[in-house]
Amino acid sequence: MIHINENYQKLQASYLFANIAKRVREYQDENPGRELIRMGIGDVTQPLPEACVTAMHKAVDELTRAETFRGYGPEQGYDFLREAIAKHDFQARGADIAADEVFVSDGAKCDTGNIQELFAGDIRVAIPDPVYPVYVDTNVMAGRTGAPQDGRYPGLVYLECTPANGYVPALPTQPVDLIYLCFPNNPTGATITRAQLKTWVDYARTNKALILYDAAYEAFIRDPELPHSIYEIEGAQDVAIEFRSFSKTAGFTGVRCAYAVVPKRCMAYTTGGAAVSVRDLWSRRHTTKFNGVSYPVQRAAEAVFSPEGSRQVRGLIDHYLTNAAYVRQAFQRMGFECVGGDNSPYIWVRSERDSWGFFDFLLKEAGVVCTPGAGFGRCGENHIRISAFNSFENVQKAMQRIADALKK
Ligand code: MLT
Repeated sequence: MIHINENYQKLQASYLFANIAKRVREYQDENPGRELIRMGIGDVTQPLPEACVTAMHKAVDELTRAETFRGYGPEQGYDFLREAIAKHDFQARGADIAADEVFVSDGAKCDTGNIQELFAGDIRVAIPDPVYPVYVDTNVMAGRTGAPQDGRYPGLVYLECTPANGYVPALPTQPVDLIYLCFPNNPTGATITRAQLKTWVDYARTNKALILYDAAYEAFIRDPELPHSIYEIEGAQDVAIEFRSFSKTAGFTGVRCAYAVVPKRCMAYTTGGAAVSVRDLWSRRHTTKFNGVSYPVQRAAEAVFSPEGSRQVRGLIDHYLTNAAYVRQAFQRMGFECVGGDNSPYIWVRSERDSWGFFDFLLKEAGVVCTPGAGFGRCGENHIRISAFNSFENVQKAMQRIADALKK
């Protein structure tokens, strides 16, 4: 008889965004005439930058001719893209990252979900609360936790992000080995200062821990004081892996391209205490389980770094940041405390209401879809997340509808 991986039984029945999509679909089926404005999942709405489209077309044309046709590419990504990433995203900011430390993939979701596979089953894992659910669920699947109790998994160390700490967690009070951080944060939109990030790097160095730094929303940083990469902090290359994505940067959620940076200096240890290169482990995994991102998509990603591409990407991000500022101000005018929305596409709104109740209220009374904070963890209760990925017209309309609904 075939047996299942029992750890899957510990998970909630469906993934957060699948659960929300189902509820919205059911509501829409019952109310077919209702026009909904979707500010739930962080999915981009604007078309691809022209430079990316042109590069993709050209690459497709190359595939139509025998002389320029390409089959399998390198699993880790083509050199042209790895080199462009290392140069523009890191070396240009003073971070000494080489092209062979960059691993191109089809998404930061997959990378942040898969990376835990490299580490032992009994490591101590620290995860922020609230958090992007992928970090938690993939550790549950891997058997690092017990069955959930009161919405939390025994075996994980939760790093609480609350109004009291400005949604930036304090260092753990118990020893941990693997630490997930995400800045600008999903879901809260909070950012981390250089000094705060340094405390985490120092902690990891002292404790031979490893930081998984999810910087998928880096392109939204406008404050010149904020770090864009963890490698801007001295010593981080020994203790941190960074994840980036073209999804939110260049509108690639449907196109799929991202990358992980695993520096050669980054080590993990055998039970006997011998240091092993995490980069080599990841390379082994990546080349075994992944066959690379398609050539036209990698050419489109490369175009993000061209002068026109970077101008167009900036325009895209400006568009979403204008929406985000509008949302934040609108909620503040309605009397809510908010974080995010300045260096982030997400606005984290605090409310007296329970978060699923507020979600239902906004859906039914305003026709606006948000994400309930509790879906991201216990500390997300009494919060909702609003995504600024939409047209400005829709954002204005949504805020007006919410203001009207709250006045009723
Ligand atoms: C979100 O809404 O949190 C993101 O779109 C999820 C993701 O990037 O996978």
